[in-house]
Amino acid sequence: MEIYDPNNKRFEVPLNIESSSNVSFEPNYDVEFINDTALQFRVIRKKTRTVLWETTLGGLIFSNQYIQLMTSVPSTSIYGFGEHEHPSFKHDMNYVRYGMFSRDQSPVALSNLYGVHPFYMCIEKDFNAHGVLLLNSNAQDVTLSPSPSLTFRTIGGILDFYMFLGPTPENVIQQYTEAIGRPFMPPYWSLGFQLSRWGYNSIDVLEKTVERLRQYDIPHDVQYGDIDYMERQLDFTYDKANFAGLPEYIKKLKNDGMHYVIILDPFLTKDEPQGTYRPYELGQELGIWVNNSDGITPAVGKAWPPGDSVYPDYTNPKTAEWWIQMCMEFKNILDYDGIWIDMNEPSNFQNGQQPGCEENHLNYPPYVPDITGGLLAEKTLCPNSKTYLGYHYDTHSLFGWSQAIPTFYASQNATGKRAFVLSRSTFVGSGKYTGHWLGDNFSRWRDMHMSIIGMLEFNLFGIPYIGADICGFNEETTYELCLRWMQLGAFYPFSRNHNAIGMKEQDPGVFGEEFAAISRSALRIRYLLLPYLYTLFYHSHVSGNTVVRGLMHEFTSDPQTHGIDRAFLWGPALMITPVLEEGARSVYVYFPEASWFDFYTGEQVSPSWLKKSVEVPAPLDVIPLFIRGGYILPTQLPARTTVLSRLNPFSLIIALDEHGEASGSLFWDDGDSIDSVERGEYFYVEYKFSNRSLKATVIKNGYNGITSLAYNTIQILGFTSKPNVIFMNGKTIPSNRMQYNSNGKITLWISAPLSQELTISFEY
Ligand code: NOJ
Repeated sequence: MEIYDPNNKRFEVPLNIESSSNVSFEPNYDVEFINDTALQFRVIRKKTRTVLWETTLGGLIFSNQYIQLMTSVPSTSIYGFGEHEHPSFKHDMNYVRYGMFSRDQSPVALSNLYGVHPFYMCIEKDFNAHGVLLLNSNAQDVTLSPSPSLTFRTIGGILDFYMFLGPTPENVIQQYTEAIGRPFMPPYWSLGFQLSRWGYNSIDVLEKTVERLRQYDIPHDVQYGDIDYMERQLDFTYDKANFAGLPEYIKKLKNDGMHYVIILDPFLTKDEPQGTYRPYELGQELGIWVNNSDGITPAVGKAWPPGDSVYPDYTNPKTAEWWIQMCMEFKNILDYDGIWIDMNEPSNFQNGQQPGCEENHLNYPPYVPDITGGLLAEKTLCPNSKTYLGYHYDTHSLFGWSQAIPTFYASQNATGKRAFVLSRSTFVGSGKYTGHWLGDNFSRWRDMHMSIIGMLEFNLFGIPYIGADICGFNEETTYELCLRWMQLGAFYPFSRNHNAIGMKEQDPGVFGEEFAAISRSALRIRYLLLPYLYTLFYHSHVSGNTVVRGLMHEFTSDPQTHGIDRAFLWGPALMITPVLEEGARSVYVYFPEASWFDFYTGEQVSPSWLKKSVEVPAPLDVIPLFIRGGYILPTQLPARTTVLSRLNPFSLIIALDEHGEASGSLFWDDGDSIDSVERGEYFYVEYKFSNRSLKATVIKNGYNGITSLAYNTIQILGFTSKPNVIFMNGKTIPSNRMQYNSNGKITLWISAPLSQELTISFEY
């Protein structure tokens, strides 16, 4: 639904919205116009007659710099809108207002943060779900009121709404990502544990840190270089004094099966001596910067590098080319595997460029949405700056999105492998090119809880590759906080410990033996489950499913789940219930109606625990985890890196539901080649357990490397009695290859190639 001005061309977000492949001639909604002169209308879900939207409450205001629309919504189960730190996943509707305008802002309650996602999901009273996107990039806010209703206010562009009718929460996100672009397929190594800090300050400290993780045998796949690897914070340089030998060290890490990701900031200093800083000089020659309002002179701000800085205008195709070329040339100096793009709100250490923003209607609009600081130019450029696509007033919040696209291709072209991009600022559609981390959080217990909410929200926004800085970025962490955070972070899709300059070290090797052992065991569980996680990413990439999801996605008709945001699921099948409080040695876990199995013992959760919040033990060395009956999870023995773990034997965990059934799948490929899904160079197998028999059916056999891999164990949870004979592909499995334990867990030791069909049947 578009509301625009037919007589005056207004700014429109340049995102190509794909229309659904399942176009239906029988829409599942009705639109009723109540009074066409005042533009009042209702959107109704046909099947249930639920009114999803009704604008009669307030009517519409459409003026040049103030557009407002108010609508009723059918329930108070509203999720989404970003980027903010929301105190709960399910929104408080008590007259709360959230501004949206990308901003370099540490996550604090109510502030508009790094990215912009004007998208929400609503669970209706009869548990159908729908989602709504307002595709608008101008500074805006939304007010949530208890009637319940939403008021959208934006100061530019048009009203361009898209509705996704679900009817399940997963369907909503599948439809949303079909429209805005499906999430990128991450390289396998990027699912491993990652370590970063701002302020190693020297290669010695970096090497020592990496070495102590190795000594403790803590899984470690990816090492980062933050801005201190650079010479004086200049992009495309490295500090040859403090980081002498960095290129060789990166090569060494890579020989050990690790990967290295570099940070790049968007701004470039203009004040290096002439002839010494090619990235700036070439860009200057090409005329690719964000300009002042005259459209000719570059906007000059201040950021990390010495002197003053200019800002590449990534909405300009020439800028994209220049950026890709710079990244490719730099690859010859530092052999990086992925690119971390920071500060791309874009951040400026002054309000507006020099000499400040003149008084006019763009820089000081009559209505400023509810954004932190109340000034559009705060910590960024003046709204009347010019970009290729128009005024910064309109394109500001697209900066990070427009940078992520060429960075994706830069990463791909430079490495010849699957792209890896991590961006701080994101917009609708960014998930096709980049992952995200939740920014400069604090080493506080509440921030652990907030990180779960953020992670769930970014899965709604189509950016499932998401995590927060483990152990906290700002402030000093503590032993127990950091340890519990390592356990929680082992279940972030993007699992990275990162720290601010000047703070004490917080990598998992620095706190001694006990800490290292507990971190190692949490990360080993992650690595064990990586085939399952990777398969979830495959489903996300091809069908738009979430990777991490709230319990309400799976148990929508149980209203108790609607407010849960201290526990979360990996896909449909694994519930993670971390400890989020200091000193706690137990957690309260709500078990929705299903069969649940303790991950560690395989024991089934007592039926008397269902639909209740139950206190479960969580000693310091344990993060409670539960597997949901009805699902089959592929696993692989862990190792210190994914390069090694990918060679190990596979297993299946088969958790039966109350009918003795379960299903699942495994996606596998070489883990880092470009577009292996699109090119069909992958392996995909479906598992089904029913009638006391497991069947693995190979659906796609397009990856040669599969032939060297094999299953070595099968675990079945929820068996009621011990079987007499077990057949594998028609042959009896010797009884010494089977163990039955009284809590219903069967373990089989087998040897069977992954590439072939597999049938295992249990007879009584
Ligand atoms: C801000 C980023 O959010 C943070 O992660 C990084 O360490 C610093 N910039 C320094 O580059």
